[in-house]
Amino acid sequence: MMRLTVIGLGLIGASCCAAIKKRASDWKISGYSRTEATRQQAIARGLIDQSFGSVADAVAGADLVLIAVPMGQFSSIFSEVFQCRDSQTVVTDAGSTKESVIREITALCETPPEWFVPAHPIAGSEQNGVDAADADLYVDHQVILTPCTTVNTDAVELVTSFWALQGASVSMMDAARHDEVLALTSHLPHILAFNLVHVLSDDNEHLDIFRYAAGGFRDFTRIAASDPTMWRDISLANQRSIVTGIDRYVERLERMRKAISDGDSDWIMGSFERARGARRLFSSLADQGVHPVTDSHPSVFKITEANEGITGEIRVPGDKSISHRSIMLGALADGVTTVEGFLEGEDAIATVKAFRDMGVQIDGPNEGRVTIQGVGRDGLKAPAAPLYMGNSGTSMRLMCGILAGQLFDSELTGDSSLSRRPMRRVSGPLARLGAIIEPSADGVPPVKIRGGQTLKGCHVDMQVASAQVKSALLLAGLYAEDETSITEPAPTRDHTERMLEGFGYEVTRDGATASMCGGSRLKACHIDIPSDISSAAFFLVAASIVPGSNLTLSHVGINPTRIGILEILNLMGADIEILNRREVGGEPVADLRVRYAPLNGVKVPRNLVPLAIDEFPVLFVAASCAEGRTCVTGAEELRVKESDRIQSMVDGLSILGVDIKATPDGALIKGGGVDFRFSGGTVEAREDHRIAMAFSVAGLLCRETIVVKDCANVATSFPNFIGLARETGFPLTVLP
Ligand code: S3P
Repeated sequence: MMRLTVIGLGLIGASCCAAIKKRASDWKISGYSRTEATRQQAIARGLIDQSFGSVADAVAGADLVLIAVPMGQFSSIFSEVFQCRDSQTVVTDAGSTKESVIREITALCETPPEWFVPAHPIAGSEQNGVDAADADLYVDHQVILTPCTTVNTDAVELVTSFWALQGASVSMMDAARHDEVLALTSHLPHILAFNLVHVLSDDNEHLDIFRYAAGGFRDFTRIAASDPTMWRDISLANQRSIVTGIDRYVERLERMRKAISDGDSDWIMGSFERARGARRLFSSLADQGVHPVTDSHPSVFKITEANEGITGEIRVPGDKSISHRSIMLGALADGVTTVEGFLEGEDAIATVKAFRDMGVQIDGPNEGRVTIQGVGRDGLKAPAAPLYMGNSGTSMRLMCGILAGQLFDSELTGDSSLSRRPMRRVSGPLARLGAIIEPSADGVPPVKIRGGQTLKGCHVDMQVASAQVKSALLLAGLYAEDETSITEPAPTRDHTERMLEGFGYEVTRDGATASMCGGSRLKACHIDIPSDISSAAFFLVAASIVPGSNLTLSHVGINPTRIGILEILNLMGADIEILNRREVGGEPVADLRVRYAPLNGVKVPRNLVPLAIDEFPVLFVAASCAEGRTCVTGAEELRVKESDRIQSMVDGLSILGVDIKATPDGALIKGGGVDFRFSGGTVEAREDHRIAMAFSVAGLLCRETIVVKDCANVATSFPNFIGLARETGFPLTVLP
């Protein structure tokens, strides 16, 4: 039995009681409220088992105490709880700001106590009081925990399971970041709604105005009916971040005022269109359960052994490489390009945002559909600030090619992982065409691109087998005089060549060489993006290693330059059938049916390495379960991906009991055979999406639980990985 005490029986506290009562019969709930009538109502509605008019009595013997009082009362209630709690009692709160809570407890206890877990359920309603209690208020809503470093992990687990039980999805954040983000996404909208209604109510004729106000007014101001005391307290508790938000808003509002009074229709239209695109993106991500506004991607995966096979029929998201290129070529084309199957992951969205920042109107993505109003080859505008490419190496490297041909200067930046990745591999070859591209001194981002250069086509023999480098050269080639030709040392993915042809641009291909002449124009078209074989790869391996599996992956791109994974798994003895082969928009597509099969180790042919370059993390997992040795050579490129993928996998798999040795250009893996089980343990994904997903697959065959840390970046390429993994039978849970 779990003993819960809820201090404060307003909407938030009473809804927790209702939610727990609905879902867990073995929880006993004590409730505290200052007001006798509230206590009686809570008992009468069956929300609590016992009511108390004193904090000390309510808290005695509790396993978990939830403080759900207005922010202004938090400090005095907390100090009472602090004095009377039992040593085992975990305490949490539900306040909308978190730094102020931590400040107040620190004032009382010097260091934040290990038994206190600050939390914020992002749910509510303009209703208040015990009568408004709603047992489903938190279902599919987010709860953000902002624990201090001193916290006890068992306390965090208890609070996490408390909210998960109510149907919420729990994530973690730093308290300061939480307050900054919530100032913009919650506090500012409330303040604007209160303010607008206040302005209108000043008007002597406000009754008339309200009579004629319709849906827009109602939608925008619904939250102005919220509890004023609560919002006064929040406004003061998060003063600094809210004032910053108001300043940003006022500046933009003044700019809009000027545009309207000057009749600047372009500016108004640009601003509205951009906002509409962002709002649609927000809706579509929210529908999928992704909440970008709070940076709340789950960061720790916990996987236990799969007792049954991986089964079902799923469609993994759109191809990342093709998604990037659809935006780039669509933006530079004449006319309107429409895209379906677009990957709504963070990497592809970084590309969308960059082109919006250069004046391209892009609607979507909305359920995989995007519409791009092409500005033509020379129509990009100088961005107002450096273009932020997030985690996406493909965006940054390909953009170097496009930006090299513009009249304006530009700068590209990225997150911590991208800021460690080599950029001279593109700046060097592009310099051969006359481009001036300057990475920082050690050859990594930020990258500065000097505009206004005359590019001149020439022949380039590429040093590395990299589709990104080849594509950057082809894109710069659009702007170069005469012919640009590129010879690659080994075949790499050819989506740029195929898509240029789809946009009516002539590219000649002769063996390892692709050539094109600059100066022609791209014609808008429709692009149907197949599912990403690199995302499918996690499921191909999962179903291959778990006995009893039978899984179909539909509409997967099987471009010959991407199917190294299929060839290597076939060599290992996997049972993969290629069904319904067809061609969609210039790319071959098929359904892949995969069933469990005992695997054997192989010497991976070097020519297949570039054709499976993103799939090695999960191939290392397959090799660990195979009979005999697997040897990977010629894969030194893995060392400069989102993490050093050789080292990340060798370190993690060694912890999981695999006999694996890193070599400079690959690894030697001694597989354990059909009876092999990974030992349990905690491994690091090192902010690398593919490492996180590869270790999740390993978890399916583990003796004890595998915990994978640092998984937030899974959303860069595979935003619904968790959902699809669970749907097909991964026993995967997410810890904040
Ligand atoms: C990509 C090419 C590959 C791949 C990356 C996407 C592309 O990189 O690893 O995920 O879209 O061109 P390299 O070409 O540098 O090997």
